[in-house]
Amino acid sequence: MTDNVVITRTDAVLEIRLNRPEKKNALTRAMYDAMAAAFDEVDNDPGLRVALLTGTGDTFTSGNDISDFQARAAGGGQSSASRFLPTIAAMRKPLVAAVNGAAIGVGCTMLMHCDLIIAARSARFVMPFTSLGLVPEAGSSLLFPQLLGNQRASALLLLGEPLDAATAHEWGFVHTIAEDHAELMRTSRALAHRLAALPPQSVRLTKQLIRRGNSDLAGRMDEEIRLFRERVASPEAKEAFAAFMEKRKPDFSRFE
Ligand code: COA
Repeated sequence: MTDNVVITRTDAVLEIRLNRPEKKNALTRAMYDAMAAAFDEVDNDPGLRVALLTGTGDTFTSGNDISDFQARAAGGGQSSASRFLPTIAAMRKPLVAAVNGAAIGVGCTMLMHCDLIIAARSARFVMPFTSLGLVPEAGSSLLFPQLLGNQRASALLLLGEPLDAATAHEWGFVHTIAEDHAELMRTSRALAHRLAALPPQSVRLTKQLIRRGNSDLAGRMDEEIRLFRERVASPEAKEAFAAFMEKRKPDFSRFE
C-alpha cells in the first residue's frame, strides 16, 4: 500500500494517479507495484473496462527514482519495475494516458503501451537513458524506431532530445493536445468512458490485433532488462546518479 498512487473508480473506468509531486512523481517500487496491481484489477474485474493513468502537479512522472537506481547499483537486486513492465505490456483492456507535464525515462517509455495518449500543451517527453549511462527499456528500443523511424528515434533515445507536445502530436505519438489541466482531464475521462461504453470483447480483440505487429516485443524487453541491469551498476551510471543527487554536471571524460 502507498499513498503515492491514488486509485479512483468511476463506473467502468479505473483512474490511477501518480501522487508524489514533491519528487516530481519519481517512481518507487511501491508505486510500480501499485500501478501493476491496478492494471491487474482492470484486466480481471468484469466490471472494469478501461484504465486511465495520470500524474499530480506539473509532472506526469520524472521516471524511476534515481536514489533507487543508486541503491541497486550499490547492492545489486532486482529492478523495481520488474513486475510493472510486463504487466503494462500485456494489458488486455485499454489504457488511456493523460500526460499532465514532463514524462521522463520510464515515464515516457511506458506510454508506448498506452492505447490513447492525451497530452497537456505543457507536456514534454524525454528519455535521458544515455546521459544516465543506461539503455532504453520497456521495449522502447523497438517501438520508437517502428513508430518514428531511426532518425527521430535516435534523436530521442541516443541524444535524449526532448520532444514537445505539439511535435509529439505531429509525429503520431500523441492522440490529442489539451490546452490546460482541466481540458486534459475532461478530454481523457470522456475518451475513457467512450471506450468503456463500447462492446468489451470487440475492444479487447481490436487492441490485441493492433498490438500484434510487435511479435518481437517480449524478446526485446528481456534483452533490454539484461543490459539495463548491467548498466545500472556501471561506473558511468554511478557517476550520472551521483551527479544528479549532488546537483552537479556529470563528468564522463575518464571513461573509455
Ligand atoms: N528521482 C529522484 N528524485 C527526483 C527525480 C527522480 N527521477 N526527479 C526529481 N527528483 C527530486 C529532485 O531531486 C528534487 O528533490 P529535492 O527537493 O529533495 O532536491 C525534487 O524531486 C524536485 O525536483 P527538481 O529537479 O528540483 O525540479 P525541477 O522542476 O527543477 O526539474 C525535472 C524537474 C523532472 C526536470 C528534474 O527533476 C529531472 O530531470 N529529474 C530527473 C529525471 C530523470 O533523469 N529520470 C530518470 C530517467 S531514466
